[in-house]
Amino acid sequence: MKTLNVLSVASELYPLVKTGGLADVVAALPAALAGQDVRVCTLLPGYRAVLAALQDGAEVSGFDDLYGGPARLLRGRAAGLDVMVLDAPHLFLRAGGPYQDPSGQDWPDNAWRFAALARAGAEVACGRAGAFVPDLVHAHEWQTGLLPAYLHYEGGPPSVMTIHNLAFQGRFPAAVFDTLGLPPAAWSINGVEYFGGVGYLKAGVALADAVTTVSPSYAAEIRTPEGGMGFDGLLRLRGAELFGILNGIDTTVWDPATDSLLPSPYSAASPAGRVANKAALQARLGLDVRPDALLFGVVSRLTWQKGLDLLLAALPALLGGDAQLALLGTGERALEAGFTAAARMNPGRVGCLIGYDEGLAHLIQGGADALVVPSRFEPCGLTQLCALRYGALPVVARVGGLADTIVDANEMAVASGVGTGVMFAPVTRDMLEAALLRTAGLWREPELWRRLQRNAMRTEVSWKRPAAHYAALYRDVLASRAA
Ligand code: ADP
Ligand code: GLC
Repeated sequence: MKTLNVLSVASELYPLVKTGGLADVVAALPAALAGQDVRVCTLLPGYRAVLAALQDGAEVSGFDDLYGGPARLLRGRAAGLDVMVLDAPHLFLRAGGPYQDPSGQDWPDNAWRFAALARAGAEVACGRAGAFVPDLVHAHEWQTGLLPAYLHYEGGPPSVMTIHNLAFQGRFPAAVFDTLGLPPAAWSINGVEYFGGVGYLKAGVALADAVTTVSPSYAAEIRTPEGGMGFDGLLRLRGAELFGILNGIDTTVWDPATDSLLPSPYSAASPAGRVANKAALQARLGLDVRPDALLFGVVSRLTWQKGLDLLLAALPALLGGDAQLALLGTGERALEAGFTAAARMNPGRVGCLIGYDEGLAHLIQGGADALVVPSRFEPCGLTQLCALRYGALPVVARVGGLADTIVDANEMAVASGVGTGVMFAPVTRDMLEAALLRTAGLWREPELWRRLQRNAMRTEVSWKRPAAHYAALYRDVLASRAA
């Protein structure tokens, strides 16, 4: 089989720049694809952390004026990957997050920052930036949505557009269109126009050769008016080229047997090491150090999507049993305040850390008995995959990728020896409470619990199968172009 060269373009990369699972996916997929004869080079914005990590960076191309300043494309290595970096200090070298200023407001020039990234991607793809000329381009999220549009109108190589979360669409005023260097024909319902403005994700979804999202169930949900967030019509139109490919996790980063962030590493064969992690977690968050208490964990962005307001409402029910909660998250102020207050009112029973903390995320996975993910929608979700591998039984809403990755330990499953977690639907406080109670029931049967934990830890959560799906899709897309 011929080796394929793929240019992957994204705005995040673990561990350098991360606001969510996108960063993990972009970082892990290239190594998995290498096993499928696919060679990936990853194009990223030149954020400070990316430039600082860049090794052997060599200039392969330059722009005299890219939206208000000079810019260069550098090729080198970062975070173990072959990368290209768009070094454009006026666009990316700023204090604050990748999309927002330090006060949490979107940067006012995001339209141009990410038009620039797409422009750079098009230069590489069309062979105008050094020796790497990809057979195919893989664009992730709205930040790269213009790239399939440029390739479409400029006759570039084929592209695959991946939707990680339809809640983020990259919508800008119509006036932006004139600055994008697209032909007038692109201003249409078949192009980049979206409800009277410019839609970056819309552009990519409309004009890529194929569109993927990160689980089969989410691929089905987003074709409906309820789940489509305005995209359902377009996605039904593109139905024949829309695919749901489940995410995996990096099983070297997430390996309880070798995890240096855990006080006590352990394996599926001998999960007893979890006991010390649980004690460490309880101590760290000010919980009573009790091995017998059922310890629920949460590692999450605190947003409406994640349904954690429902967990806050269900707390009395959770604490009515003999359970504890350990929460790590950051996001909406009201949720941060809600969990902080809950911890204050329930000393020893509820502990939380508001913030981002890689080490604590691992400790929760390796020490909590169960991980709660009550999302209202979830394109894939990675934390439940980590939880499976670490033996924290996932308690999840039956939506999107959560539905595709957990086997509910219902009566029949238990009788048959299968089941890897607890699933509930619809996503309401009442059903979440019922799921928490059901989990507590399973906890009271230690042998059954250990069985479910073993099932969870043996679940295949790696990138092996998903990478094979991506590689097959890339080859199909190239074959249909050639036909
Ligand atoms: P999303 O991308 O919607 O936030 P995912 O489950 O796909 O959800 O990915 C979230 C990723 O971010 C996981 O790797 C998770 O461990 C990590 N994460 C989320 N919140 C925190 C936090 N407060 N501290 C550390 N890691 C976090
Ligand atoms: C998004 C989704 C999440 C998914 C991640 C990586 O942030 O919210 O469900 O796992 O992207 O694809």
